[in-house]
Amino acid sequence: MRTQVAIIGSGPAGLLLGQLLTDAGIDNVIVERVSQAYVLGRIRAGVLEDGTAAMLDEAGAGARMRREGLPHAGFDLAFDGRRHRVDLAGLTGGRHVMVYGQTEVTRDLMERRAASGALSVYEAANVTPHDFDGARPCLTYEHDGATRRLDCDFIAGCDGYHGVARRSVPAGAIETFERVYPFGWLGIVADVPPVGDELIYANHPRGFALCSMRSLTRSRYYVQCSLDESTDAWPDDRFWDEIRRRLPAATAEAMTTGPSVEKSIAPLRSFVAEPLRFGRLLLAGDAAHIVPPTGAKGLNLAASDIRYLFDGLREHYHERSDAGLDAYSGKALARVWKAERFSWWMTNTLHRFPDQGGFGQKIQHAELDYLVGSRAARTAMAENYVGLPY
Ligand code: APR
Ligand code: PHB
Repeated sequence: MRTQVAIIGSGPAGLLLGQLLTDAGIDNVIVERVSQAYVLGRIRAGVLEDGTAAMLDEAGAGARMRREGLPHAGFDLAFDGRRHRVDLAGLTGGRHVMVYGQTEVTRDLMERRAASGALSVYEAANVTPHDFDGARPCLTYEHDGATRRLDCDFIAGCDGYHGVARRSVPAGAIETFERVYPFGWLGIVADVPPVGDELIYANHPRGFALCSMRSLTRSRYYVQCSLDESTDAWPDDRFWDEIRRRLPAATAEAMTTGPSVEKSIAPLRSFVAEPLRFGRLLLAGDAAHIVPPTGAKGLNLAASDIRYLFDGLREHYHERSDAGLDAYSGKALARVWKAERFSWWMTNTLHRFPDQGGFGQKIQHAELDYLVGSRAARTAMAENYVGLPY
């Protein structure tokens, strides 16, 4: 089989790239390791920058997001028993974020791809990129009991942090940068109304907490936990008690509790691989970088990578120019590192670190106090949160 762009991974990055390429008349095939149902079963974050929302519109997959998503003009910071609103719209000339689950983004993109007739191969085993340092790369994989070969012009590694694409690059050709955080996030989903109209990020001596949502009837909550925790040790009642202890009293009292429909613990990590291009293999999304979820940047960085990568591929095929592809890695990494910085900063400002000490806690409190008292500080936070320019 032959295509122009072989895409490894049917997550948001792979699906968004595939749709933009298809709509531009550039043939592409997505090869995915697990089933479609498995991809859709993943619970992930849910805040879209306006740039990401615009890209979903461009890919023809934004209608349900616009209909069911929740535009948010601000969020609250909670500490010392009080809440302080960060007025995103007022600080960024009217910009908002869209609260809409990544699972729904993935579903919308899958439905759009099915309607466009582009080929996705699910449950493909042992996907392996070959000869991407030359002009005739290909993928091999096993599917339906047979070994398949997909010849292509380019391979897009959209296969996430644990994928094969980055691991296929010769060790000497790639450099990685990483910071692993000494705690995790215990998250639940519950079909109860959210405690507030907007998100609440809480810094508390017992640890970080986040009140988020998926809709007006489905809440998403998180508490910072130690890495050796297990969800077995967190029955719903314990979770509800803990998150309410980390919130201002009035907020805790207003919280509607109920049975969790999903509960999981996720580690936090900052990670970047450089460069993002290796001949005809290009990395995008979580295959190239990971952010702690504090700043809700993971999906949004996948979108900006795909913006640059799609524009470069379209230029290659429609204008016979490789300037965009040659610039892809540098351009994407410039935005990635600013989002890594913001996510690292938000994580350091809002979480309790075991080795923080008294000085560290005082600095953290001063940071929060400065945010509350300075429009300039809140403007810097707001412009990063709604999304820096592409
Ligand atoms: N072969 C084929 N597919 C693979 C392989 C492989 N060897 N390894 C991983 N995959 C698939 C995964 O099953 C997954 O469906 O690649 C896809 C990668 O999707 P994501 O991990 O969602 O990454 P990405 O599309 O970059 O989206 C980033 O997803 O993980 C969240 O927080 C992250 O919000 C961010 C977003
Ligand atoms: C979520 O709703 O899952 C979410 C929202 C904001 C974050 C992280 C996660 O910063």
